[in-house]
Amino acid sequence: MRAGPAAALFGAAALVAAAATTGPATAGDSAPEYTVVDGYTIPEPLTETPGDPVMGRKWVINRKLGNCLSCHQMPIPEEQFHGETGPALYGVGDLYDAGELRLRMVDPKVLNPYSMMPAFYKTEGLHRVRTGFEGKTILNAQQVEDIIAYLMTLKDTSGARAAADN
Ligand code: HEC
Repeated sequence: MRAGPAAALFGAAALVAAAATTGPATAGDSAPEYTVVDGYTIPEPLTETPGDPVMGRKWVINRKLGNCLSCHQMPIPEEQFHGETGPALYGVGDLYDAGELRLRMVDPKVLNPYSMMPAFYKTEGLHRVRTGFEGKTILNAQQVEDIIAYLMTLKDTSGARAAADN
C-alpha cells in the first residue's frame, strides 16, 4: 500500500476502533487499490515491500484469515483437514505468474462470476460479509503479497499424492 504517514496513522486508529468493538479482529484495508489489466491479471504489486513466503504460508493456514485449506489441498502436512471445493494448489506457482495469482486473490469473480472463492481484497459488491469485516478487506495488502510469494514457491506436484493419502 502506498500510504503516507497520515494514512498510516488513520490505519492505526481504524484498527484500534475495530479492536474495541470486535476483539482482536484481523481487519484488512478499507480502501483497496488495484488495477486489473486485460481482465486476467493485476501485474502491479499491492505493496512496496515484497511478499514474504514464510508469512504467506502462515496466512493460508490461519482459519480467521485465508482459511484456504477449507477449500484447497496444499503441501501443508501438519494441518489435518484440506478441503476439495477448489482445485489442489500443488504446482500452482508453475501454472500462473504473480499477477495472475494476485487477481485470483483480490477478486476471483473477475475470472468466474460464479466463483465460490472469497474476494480477499475487495470491499464492494460482497455478500455475507462477516461481522467486523464490513467495509474492510479480509486480508490486508501485505498479507495478499505474502500469500502470492508463498504460492509462487509451489512448483512441485509430486507431494500431492502423499498428502491426499493423509
Ligand atoms: C470457499 C472456498 C475457497 C476458499 C476459502 C479459497 N478458495 Fe481458492 N478457489 C476456490 C475455487 C472453487 C476455485 C476454482 C476457480 C473458481 O471457482 O474461482 C479456486 C481457485 C483458486 C486458485 C486458482 C487455482 C487453479 O488451479 O486455477 C488459487 C491460486 C486459489 N484458489 C488460491 C486460494 C488461496 C491462496 C486461498 C486462501 C487465501 C483460497 N484460494 C481460498 C475456492 C476457495
